[in-house]
Amino acid sequence: MKALILSGGKGTRLRPLTYTGAKQLVPVANKPILWYGIEAIVAAGITDIGIIISPETGEEVKQKTGSGDRFGAEITYILQDKPAGLAHAVKTARPFLGDSPFIMYLGDNLIADDLNNFRDEFKNKQLDALVLLRSVSNPSAFGVAELDDQGNLIRLVEKPQNPPSNLALVGIYFFAQTIHQAIDAIQPSARGELEITDAIDMLITQQKRVQALQLQDWWLDTGKKNDLLEANRIILDTRLESLQTGVIDSRSQVIGRVAIGNNSQIINSTIRGPVVIGENCHIENAFIGPYTSIGNQVHLIDTDLEHSVVLEGARIIGVEQRIVDSVIGQRAKLELAPQRPKALRFMIGDDSQVELV
Ligand code: G1P
Repeated sequence: MKALILSGGKGTRLRPLTYTGAKQLVPVANKPILWYGIEAIVAAGITDIGIIISPETGEEVKQKTGSGDRFGAEITYILQDKPAGLAHAVKTARPFLGDSPFIMYLGDNLIADDLNNFRDEFKNKQLDALVLLRSVSNPSAFGVAELDDQGNLIRLVEKPQNPPSNLALVGIYFFAQTIHQAIDAIQPSARGELEITDAIDMLITQQKRVQALQLQDWWLDTGKKNDLLEANRIILDTRLESLQTGVIDSRSQVIGRVAIGNNSQIINSTIRGPVVIGENCHIENAFIGPYTSIGNQVHLIDTDLEHSVVLEGARIIGVEQRIVDSVIGQRAKLELAPQRPKALRFMIGDDSQVELV
């Protein structure tokens, strides 16, 4: 079995972070979202992995993620020249996939469950397709499934205005080679894309063996700011291990599960986990509260923050009010004068959001 991970797209909903990088490389608990997917796939015994990349962000994905050695996998990068839909991505990857069954994994999705049970269900029942569903409050934003009373799939529709249920299609699918004929038989949707949802719906119409399993535990599609904070919270809660290799001075307090990377200095500060702090950071006279991830080379001085994600190289100095629920981009600077400032002076990138609450 092979794997196809999709890591293209423009990431418009995560702007401005995605102006300078791929959305799949935005870190959750200091690790790119994409890497959680790769690790889950390898843990299910699948090591022959193709990654779909786009002309805009492909080089960065390739450079950061590498040949697959670090994951115990072999990665083949496949360029999709235009964002023409998920089924178009499968078409583009056909030479890599051959006639092999495969798992297709959208690179910004994360789920609590490991993939082994789904893989076994797909193999043992010799299915043409296995899809995963999760109930959501906003089904119109996703592919949506309609089931009969026995839980059999009747129909799948992509982002319907009047959703037939609240069951969204999770971005993780298992396919046999029959999916390729279904893709050849569909037409582009109203938004001009070849939709994988339509191809699976075609398999259902052709009475192929398509099954759906419902996830009970969490599923995150990290496309937006709040999803990213939620993913960060869940990963810190469930997977963070305490490991402190930085230097913590005697006036500082580190409480709960906290990871601190090499050469980071914690001076006169309180850190209450779960918190992850990267390498070469300078934290002084600060409070860092639960569910916070701090990337490498961050300076945080005279500042309180919690439930936030601070990316590599950011500087936050002298912010008197507590910073909460925030995502601070790479190399961003947030500095306040030591006296109560009389004016605020900004240089804020396109699509940024600043809320003084
Ligand atoms: C895609 C699929 C959609 C699915 C979603 C899951 O949507 O088209 O059916 O529910 O992924 O993340 P997109 O995120 O590309 O809009």
